[in-house]
This record gives sequence, structure tokens and C-alpha cells, in this order.
Amino acid sequence: MSVVYNLGPATRVPLGEGRTFTVGERTVAVFRTRSGELLATQAECPHQRGPLADGLLGGNMLVCPLHGYKFDVKTGLAVGHSCGSLQTFPVELSDSGEILLRVEPS
Ligand code: FES
Repeated sequence: MSVVYNLGPATRVPLGEGRTFTVGERTVAVFRTRSGELLATQAECPHQRGPLADGLLGGNMLVCPLHGYKFDVKTGLAVGHSCGSLQTFPVELSDSGEILLRVEPS
């Protein structure tokens, strides 16, 4: 059974950027695209654990800040490399504008 975490107002994640949140015993990167869509993935890059929330986000495409590997943060799929995909998490905006993240217990 999944757990829903309220991460606070969506404005905690500026448009076009990501932020890292700790939920339970794991860290998750939450992104807000320039169009306002919320997306969430594992926090660390599968290559060498780069902090994905600090990456460059263009649309759904994320560039890891350490070595430039690309990922689609909506699907989690690796783009142009074979380093592995990202785990993604369902995330949505509440009626009051807060980030609701759904996580399966590990
Ligand atoms: S740690 Fe992300 S590309 Fe190397």
C-alpha cells in the first residue's frame, strides 16, 4: 500500500527546476516544468549518484549535472545512453496547491 506525502506548496520547487526531498528513508527529486507540471524521480543519477534535482531541465528532458547524461523525467527512460532508467513516482498538485507525492514502501 502506497503512502502519500504532502511536500508543501508547489512554489517550493521553482518553475523549470528540481528540488530534493526526503520522504521516509529515501530521497526523491521533484521537478516542476516551465509549464507547471510536477514530476518526480529517484534523487540520484544511476551513473555515479549525481544530484538529479540540480540538473538542467528543458521540458521533460533532464541533464545530469555531473556528466551530462540525459533522462526523460516523465517516463524515467535514459536518453542516448545505457546507464539505466530512473525510478519515477506519481506526484500531483492538491486543490490547495501543495505537492502530493505517492511512494510505495521500500
Ligand atoms: S552521475 Fe549523472 S551522468 Fe554521471
